[in-house]
Amino acid sequence: MDNIAPKVETAEGPRLVSRVYRYKDLREWLEIAQRLQLLKRLDGADWDLEIGAITEIERRRRLENSSILLFDQIRGYPPGYRVAANCDNSMPLVAVSLGMSPSMKGLEFVRVWKDRMKQFVPLPPRLVSSGPVLENVLNGRDIDLFKFPTPRWNERDGGRYIGTDCVVVTRDPEQGWINLGTYRVMIHGKDRLGLYISPGKDGRIQMEKSFARNEPFPVAICFGQDPLLIYIASFHLPWGTSEYDYAGWVKGEPIDIIKGPVTGLPIPASAEIAIEGFVHPGEMQEEGPFGEFTGYYASDKRPAPVVRVESLMYRNEPIITGTPMGRPPSVVFYDLISAATLWEAMEAAGIPDIKGVYIHHMAPTSMFTAVSITQRYPGHARQAGLAAIACRGGAYMGRYYVVVDEDIDPSNIEEVIWAVSTRSDPAEDIEILRRCWSGPLDPVIPKARKGFNSRAIIDACRPYEWRNEFPPVVESSPEIKRRVLEKWKDILGD
Ligand SMILES: Cc1cc2nc3c(=O)[nH]c(=O)nc-3n(C[C@H](O)[C@H](O)[C@H](O)COP(=O)(O)O)c2cc1C
Repeated sequence: MDNIAPKVETAEGPRLVSRVYRYKDLREWLEIAQRLQLLKRLDGADWDLEIGAITEIERRRRLENSSILLFDQIRGYPPGYRVAANCDNSMPLVAVSLGMSPSMKGLEFVRVWKDRMKQFVPLPPRLVSSGPVLENVLNGRDIDLFKFPTPRWNERDGGRYIGTDCVVVTRDPEQGWINLGTYRVMIHGKDRLGLYISPGKDGRIQMEKSFARNEPFPVAICFGQDPLLIYIASFHLPWGTSEYDYAGWVKGEPIDIIKGPVTGLPIPASAEIAIEGFVHPGEMQEEGPFGEFTGYYASDKRPAPVVRVESLMYRNEPIITGTPMGRPPSVVFYDLISAATLWEAMEAAGIPDIKGVYIHHMAPTSMFTAVSITQRYPGHARQAGLAAIACRGGAYMGRYYVVVDEDIDPSNIEEVIWAVSTRSDPAEDIEILRRCWSGPLDPVIPKARKGFNSRAIIDACRPYEWRNEFPPVVESSPEIKRRVLEKWKDILGD
């Protein structure tokens, strides 16, 4: 692991912001967390609910500045069999993984990442003959997924979820490209896993294509790995783009992979724990319930595809990366990355003069998205709202899309509410779209209607045709503020 002090791009262009860290694998990443004083070690916790509750408390208290929690000596497991939790909320660590300054946060993070996404050049993975993941390899009857201290995260969860911050590797059966996705994975038995992928996700489409050909669907899943792979696996990349190529580009060097001996799928050579297996067409088992990112158990127990595990690999003293979902905020990085993806996709779709895009942490996925624009022509605001509904990063399970003028900070919920309540007239400024892309996890959609939902665009911009006559904002000008602050600084402070 080494430190470098490179140029970091900001909205204003490249400048030296601070040191950015390079690292090889999860273990070196945890050392960086330690150096940034964002690692807490906890010995002796119980896998049954305690790890989940501790993680929830840490994330709620400190949110974007919360620590990575490294659990060891977990009840009933040998020392060294560990769980690293909360990798999704500690924004300095997310930024470090993406090659940015650890101080990058909020809307600035979104803007910088959006600009960086435009520079993507695929960097394919590098095939290596061996790696730490092969330190232990078990096949057939020796496979036992209960070897690892998989938490039961929340009280009503239907089982132990080894896959929360995991990476699922699949191949398109027609086009051959490799997809990575983060999807929840429940342990059904020593060599059986339940895999839930929402409708419309790339991994699900690939699986359904395979089933349509009546072929078993090969999968490899890592349950502990470089967190960068979790972040990239959960990006909304265009169909056909391999997340491995993307992760290599972000890291600045190819991801080392081994060829899975059973499926031939590429598996990160430095993964902590990985399995290979097959999902057989028609084989389903009850999966769930699982406390989800919306803050609800919205999908109950339902039949989901089963992975028959044929090979289990793991490093000595392996570490599961995992995180409980639940009442938001619960996966903060995802909101910021989705906002950046959406902003980039809206620009690519030709929407001009977007000043900011933000997905609010209390309304994850894109359930409450705010977009600020400089209005350039009649209909620009509605166009921006419609694009936000349709584009990558904003399309899945969205709900409210608020468009505001450029003087409103879309990441400041109070400013957004001020704009909605003073610049929109409900009868004129709310548009509803029906039968949009939702899924089983949508809490307000009843069972019979799951799959679709509706969307509202709230146009909270000043009405375009009389925007120049709109009542002026009551606020001291920057010049007056500067003058009085100078004059009264002994009392008011700087
Ligand atoms: C921590 C975490 C857990 C997730 N769990 C699931 C899940 O259980 N099922 C799912 O379909 N998507 C889940 N997602 C979202 C997907 O990873 C994301 O939509 C990704 O873009 C899907 O990849 P794909 O479109 O390449 O299939 C999760 C994301 C994160 C960050």
